[in-house]
Amino acid sequence: MNSTLDISINKISNSRISQYDINDVPFGKCFSDHMFVAEYSDGEWNKASIMPYADVPLSYATSSLHYGQAIFEGMKAYKNDAGEVSLFRPFENINRMNKSAIRMAMPEIPVDFFMNALNELIRLDSSWVPSSEYGSLYIRPFLISTDEAIGVKISDTYKFIIITCPAGKYYSEPVKVLVETTYSRAVHGGVGFVKAAGNYGRSLYPTKLAQQKGYHQVIWTDSQTHEYFEESGTMNVMFVIGETLITPALIDTILDGVTRKSVLELARDWGVNVEERKVSIKEVFEAHENGTLKEVFGCGTAATIAQIISIGYNGKDYELTPIAERKFSNKVDETLRKIRKGKIEDKMNWMLKII
Ligand code: COI
Repeated sequence: MNSTLDISINKISNSRISQYDINDVPFGKCFSDHMFVAEYSDGEWNKASIMPYADVPLSYATSSLHYGQAIFEGMKAYKNDAGEVSLFRPFENINRMNKSAIRMAMPEIPVDFFMNALNELIRLDSSWVPSSEYGSLYIRPFLISTDEAIGVKISDTYKFIIITCPAGKYYSEPVKVLVETTYSRAVHGGVGFVKAAGNYGRSLYPTKLAQQKGYHQVIWTDSQTHEYFEESGTMNVMFVIGETLITPALIDTILDGVTRKSVLELARDWGVNVEERKVSIKEVFEAHENGTLKEVFGCGTAATIAQIISIGYNGKDYELTPIAERKFSNKVDETLRKIRKGKIEDKMNWMLKII
C-alpha cells in the first residue's frame, strides 16, 4: 500500500483550541482536535482515517497491553513568523519507526503512507502549532498490536495512530542526574536501540528511586560493567571535554536519536572535534577533577537540548559548569531553534514545509 490509499477525513464540528493557551501548556497533556488511525489486517494496511481525537476502542485482552508489542516515535512541527508549518527531519523518524517495527516483529509502515498521514493531519490541525520561541507541535506516531488474544505470539492485527500535542520546554530547569549502576535501561541483544514502549516502562522504577533522592533523572550505564555512560533519562547524552564533543557510539543499547545526529552534524560542520565512542565514568570525573569537563547535556526530540547541571555518583554530587558559560551547547541549542523557526538558513535541508 502507498500514499494512493485514501484517507477518509471526519472533521471535528467545534475545535477545542479555545480551551487552551497553546503557547503555555504542560508537555503531553493537551491534545489537538484530530488524530490519524489506520488498521493492519490480512497482511495489509487499510481503513486509514483522520477523525476527532478520541479513546481507542479496544478489548481488555488486546495483546499489546499484556506483552508490549508496541512502538512509538516522537517528532515535531514548527511554525515560523510567516505562519508556515514545517516538520523537522520527518524521514529520520519514519525510518527509525520501521527499524523498531522490524525488531518488534511488527509490520512496517510504507514511507509514502506515513508521510501522507502526517501531511494531512498537520495541515488540518495547523492552528495547534504554537508560534512561541520554544513552542512546537509534538507528534506521537505509535503502532500497537491489537489481536484479542492472551497467548504470546506475533499479532496478526495492528493499529497505527498519530496524535499530536502543543508543547513548550520539556524541562523547565537544568537537570540533576544520578549515575545508575544497579538497574539497566538496555542490554546487548535487547531493544534499547529502538523505541519500544517497554524501554520506557522499565526505566520508571530506577527513575523514581533517583527522584526520591532529589534528582530529576538517571544517567544509564552499560549493563555489564556499569562503567560506561549510555543515555540520560529519555535522551542521548553528550560531554564536552577540552575542545572535543564526545558521545557514546551507537550500539544496540543506544537509541539513534535524531537530535543526537543533528547536534553531531552541526558540530562537524563547525569544525568541532567529535568523538563517538565508549565514554567511561572514570574519564568524565577525571576531566571534572582536572577542570577540562566543560559541558554535559542531554538531547532528544521532546527535550531538545537539556543542560545537565550536576551529576550524582557514589554519594557525591559533582557540580558542573554554569549554564551561561557553556559555549557549544548554548550555540547548538540556539542554532537548532533558529533553523526550526526559520530564523536562519536551513542549509542542511532539515525542514520539510507542510503548509
Ligand atoms: C522524545 O524525545 O520524543 C522521547 O521519546 C521522549 C519521550 C518519551 C517524552
